[in-house]
Amino acid sequence: MIALGIESTAHTFGIGIVDSKGKVLANEKDTLKPKDKGLIPRELAEHHFQVSERILRQALDKAEVKLSEIDLIGFSQGPGIGNALRIGATVGRALSLKLNKPLAPVNHCIAHIEIGKKKTKAKDPVVVYASGANTQIITLSNERYRIFGETLDIGIGNMMDSFGRELGLGFPAGPILDQWYFLGKKYIPLPYTVKGSDLVFSGLQTAAERMIGKETQEDLAYSLLHTGFAMLTEVTERVLAHTGKKEVLLVGGVAASKALNQMMDTMCEERNAKKFVPEVQFCTDNGAMIAWTTHLVYKSQGKISIKESEIKPKQRTDDVVPKWIQKK
Ligand code: FE2
Repeated sequence: MIALGIESTAHTFGIGIVDSKGKVLANEKDTLKPKDKGLIPRELAEHHFQVSERILRQALDKAEVKLSEIDLIGFSQGPGIGNALRIGATVGRALSLKLNKPLAPVNHCIAHIEIGKKKTKAKDPVVVYASGANTQIITLSNERYRIFGETLDIGIGNMMDSFGRELGLGFPAGPILDQWYFLGKKYIPLPYTVKGSDLVFSGLQTAAERMIGKETQEDLAYSLLHTGFAMLTEVTERVLAHTGKKEVLLVGGVAASKALNQMMDTMCEERNAKKFVPEVQFCTDNGAMIAWTTHLVYKSQGKISIKESEIKPKQRTDDVVPKWIQKK
């Protein structure tokens, strides 16, 4: 069986083609990169619509399969930006109808986890999902992926990009800030806000932005990232302690950060836990994660009708019952 998965929750429109063993045959995408402003929903929808046909063709060419050889179609159902989700869902419905092949809905956050597990062979990890829009610490508990801690305001990636924009850096700013982190010489105290197991980043961002021009950009990048990542690491450690689990899986675009990895490595070593990170193409938003999870969803719960394929912009990770796990 070959599944085609469509990702369109935020800035990325991606199409992945994956076989039933998890072999990725194609993982094509196009990401909207606004220079000096955040993501505007209608511009995202326009971008996704414009690139959809090209990305589909690229994915089929790369996988060396014909459209008629696709057995399953999956799409990101949520969470995400409504206008953007709607384009992916529409492409999915159209392909399902045209090919007369089953359609399956996929939760975006769970897809990050499932491709991460598949690619790293982590079995039952505490998952740190850190991206622009999302920051959650999730793990399997009582047969669902439960959110143990999460941001109460903005995603940590969003904080980094917004701060970078104030410095005139392009999007995404994370990779440059990550380089500067290692050049910083002085830690500037910034607000460290952990509430229970939840996190708050906007105060940290504002405080750092107020110091632009007064401190070097390297020291600011070091201090901002060090504070934000320490908050994330603290909550991850708490969830490891609470659940007794011994694996940490980093997913989402921020998982590529060397600074975050260094901090998580230290914590995992001290706790005798093992850290896993998939390669970057499977950390950032991508179609392959949707295609792989489409196999899991379809095998465990069958197809859905077009009527049941509505998008769910506010869908929560723990709203979804991962039946493929219950059946094991
Ligand atoms: Fe994501």
